[in-house]
Amino acid sequence: TGYVTLDSGYKNTGATKSAITFLDGEEGILRYRGYPIEQLAEKSSFLEVAYLLIYGALPTEAELAHFNGQITKHTLVHEDMRKIFDGFPSATHPMAILSSLICALTGFYPQSVSPDLSPEEMELNIIRLLAKMPTIAAWTYKNNMGHPLNYPRNDMDYCANFLYMMFSFPTEKYEINPVVVSALNKLLILHADHEQNCSTSTVRLVGSANASLYGSVSAGINALWGPLHGGANQEVVEMLEAIERDGGDTSKFINKAKDKNDPFRLMGFGHRVYKNFDPRAKIIKVAADEVLQALGMQDSPLLKIAQELEQAALTDEYFIERKLYPNVDFYSGIIYKALGIPTEMFTVMFALGRLPGWIAQWKEMRENKEPIGRPRQIYTGELERDYTAIDAR
Ligand code: CMC
Repeated sequence: TGYVTLDSGYKNTGATKSAITFLDGEEGILRYRGYPIEQLAEKSSFLEVAYLLIYGALPTEAELAHFNGQITKHTLVHEDMRKIFDGFPSATHPMAILSSLICALTGFYPQSVSPDLSPEEMELNIIRLLAKMPTIAAWTYKNNMGHPLNYPRNDMDYCANFLYMMFSFPTEKYEINPVVVSALNKLLILHADHEQNCSTSTVRLVGSANASLYGSVSAGINALWGPLHGGANQEVVEMLEAIERDGGDTSKFINKAKDKNDPFRLMGFGHRVYKNFDPRAKIIKVAADEVLQALGMQDSPLLKIAQELEQAALTDEYFIERKLYPNVDFYSGIIYKALGIPTEMFTVMFALGRLPGWIAQWKEMRENKEPIGRPRQIYTGELERDYTAIDAR
């Protein structure tokens, strides 16, 4: 083991070369394929960004129309998939259902597990996944609510169709609120990729064994579910609600987060790579203000608590010393809540946004013919000992 370097949590280990996302944590810079996140969030659409991440360039009008057309062709899921929902106890978290159903796609498209995909087959698998993910995601919610399921509306754009499947009843005319659609579009763009984070590394590691795209993304969904990763967006809102119930004293929770004998952490704060403002958090903070104004919810007590908490942390020695700033999850939950999305669906929303990134990274890994991922270890156990019979132990 003399050649092995220990790097717990891979804090300093580059596991791959990648041409997809550039991140400078000291300066707070994030770019997809060279384009600053601020410009994409302001000017682009989620599907355009998905195309950019997966294929490397912004699409022309014709390319985007073709991409969109392909996706809308595949939004339906096999009727047998509906039956799988029935097997889940009603308390099942939507992330568990989502990861199971994404993995189950391998059964409906057996060719997808082949290690030798032609470019056309790979393309079809990608399109199917992008197309079916919103349908499956919305159905996890409808099913948990006991509502009738909505079938996709292919005359609507990606975000609007998702909102329709979430919030409309089959007999209703669905009124699209452009503020809500545009906020969702922005949130999904901001979540679309973030280089080698925990879930993306999972997707690449699983995929490096020549596992299928659907199996790899299913594993990534489970990694994302963790409260230190994407699950933090649900935890943030639950924390803000707990502070509200407790009377709104933010300093009490700041002190709890600083107490090394208390496992509580300020959710939505801190980041492995950003030692400066998370550029996504800056955009989301402004968007939260705008969305709540536009929806007439500017007096939201949760927003007030979040703002107070942020201010208190940013001026506190503990957080300053450790360079802990709000991350992408700090304000995103407040927007999701304002859009009417239930708390337990927040991490599903993150998964919906991160999907193009997972796909792009899986595809890059496959196309670069990367070797199987296989970290080493520093062994700390017993050296060698002789087996003792059970009556002699
Ligand atoms: N509240 C209180 N203390 C914190 C926090 C926090 N949110 N985050 C880090 N610290 C402290 C930590 O206790 C440690 O202190 P000390 O040096 O005294 O031991 C120091 O700051 C460094 O933290 P770390 O745990 O070594 O840093 P890490 O890079 O391993 O962890 C993190 C990064 C994001 C897991 C962590 O900051 C955290 O747990 N944050 C809260 C959960 C969260 O918001 N996660 C979302 C991350 S961004 C989006 C995503 O990935 O999905």
